[in-house]
Amino acid sequence: MLVHVITHGCQMNEYDTHTILSELVAGGHQIVDTPADAELIILNTCAVRGKPVEKVISLLGEFRKQKLAGRDLTVGMMGCLAQLEEGQALAKKFGVDILVGPGAITDILKAIEAVETRGESFWSLDFKDDLHSYLTPPPNTLTGFLTIMRGCNHHCTYCIVPQTRGPEVSRSLESIMHEARAMQAAGVQEIYLLGQNVNSYGLGRPDLPSFAELLRLVAATGIPRVKFTTSHPMNFTSDVIDAMAECDNVCKYIHLPVQSGSDRVLRRMAREYRRARYLEIIAEIKAKIPDVVISTDIIVGFPGETEEDFEATLTLYDEVGFDHAYMFMYSARPGTPSYKHFKDLPREVKTERLGRLIERQKYWSNRRNARWVGRNLRVLVKEVATDGQYLVGHSDQNHTVLVPKEQVRTLGLHEVRIDSATPHTLYGTVAGFATEAIPLMMAS
Ligand code: SAH
Ligand code: SF4
Ligand code: F3S
Repeated sequence: MLVHVITHGCQMNEYDTHTILSELVAGGHQIVDTPADAELIILNTCAVRGKPVEKVISLLGEFRKQKLAGRDLTVGMMGCLAQLEEGQALAKKFGVDILVGPGAITDILKAIEAVETRGESFWSLDFKDDLHSYLTPPPNTLTGFLTIMRGCNHHCTYCIVPQTRGPEVSRSLESIMHEARAMQAAGVQEIYLLGQNVNSYGLGRPDLPSFAELLRLVAATGIPRVKFTTSHPMNFTSDVIDAMAECDNVCKYIHLPVQSGSDRVLRRMAREYRRARYLEIIAEIKAKIPDVVISTDIIVGFPGETEEDFEATLTLYDEVGFDHAYMFMYSARPGTPSYKHFKDLPREVKTERLGRLIERQKYWSNRRNARWVGRNLRVLVKEVATDGQYLVGHSDQNHTVLVPKEQVRTLGLHEVRIDSATPHTLYGTVAGFATEAIPLMMAS
């Protein structure tokens, strides 16, 4: 079949899309670049907030319309929303043919066969023991996502993820290392280790290394760059900071979601740390890793958040001086404890607070980014920017960096001198080495 996959959500979904694409190719199907050319469209969905769910509804409505108008189209749904009753009700309503949950994506070939040969629809919501097949990344892949664990054992009261991805299961060391080496052999320049809480990798499993040890083992492959996300402050131990500090190829960038600066709110969110502990971890990171870049996730307008609570988030922001933050307005998700037990705040209050937080973020990102002007950074140049004038890449510290297109002949690692900075982007000039990676002509 001619297949197109549309991916929403986080990097874990991107990884799952890669897995499904490699299964499809191995099964003799062909991947097409645009939905219009496809016989099968698979929607990889996210359910973390109301907005991504609305996007799915609008796409499913669109596909249904086309089918009613006579287009011969098979529609598949995977990802987090597929695992929830909410998603299954939508699948029924819009006549989705294939539905596979995040634990069952390796059923995709079976699903297509059921639809193609027997005209049946196919649903699978199991959590398989070995979710992962060994992937060989597609040619010209510079960043390789590598999921090291699935699920989440925390119970943050606002969050749907534990229900969509199930309890934590760590992958075997052997399969992780096998995949890391396959990526390296395929020319991947950067491995991104993924999990909802990578720091709990191997917990309760004496046969597995700790996350810090795993990080060292992946770094020892010699791949130019290793990054990881997401870290939960509760399990963020000193040995991880030490491994980051000691391994040259582990990026000096850490994403450590705080969610709120108020202990009262953290308690109601059931986050297992408090403000003082969070600040203690940040202090240790800054002391051990000079020039570290730190980002975070913040939810504003959690039920019961007072003006004073919100101000505590602003003062925490100032104390840390985050380089970047992903800021979300609280979204009440059916099926979560906070949806059931707490009353949502008025939308105006949430919007107004989000606006103030964004101002704070811009101020700090501007200030933090400005410190790189005049310095050289190593940048993985990956693709042509939407305007066609620049190429986009990411620094070792995860900044988005733009360089003029005419200065670059190959995609891959470059030394770039930073000329100017905005809150979101650094602008630079190619100033030194460039590794021979992928000729630009081939990739674009
Ligand atoms: N496992 C990661 C994050 C997973 S979801 C962690 O614990 O840090 C990514 C982010 O989405 C969360 O950090 C949180 O800030 C946000 N988020 C999750 N549920 C949300 C909700 N109901 N409303 C708004 N933001 C939410
Ligand atoms: Fe959701 Fe909390 Fe688990 Fe992160 S740690 S995935 S926010 S329940
Ligand atoms: Fe969304 Fe699932 Fe990721 S809900 S954020 S795709 S884990």
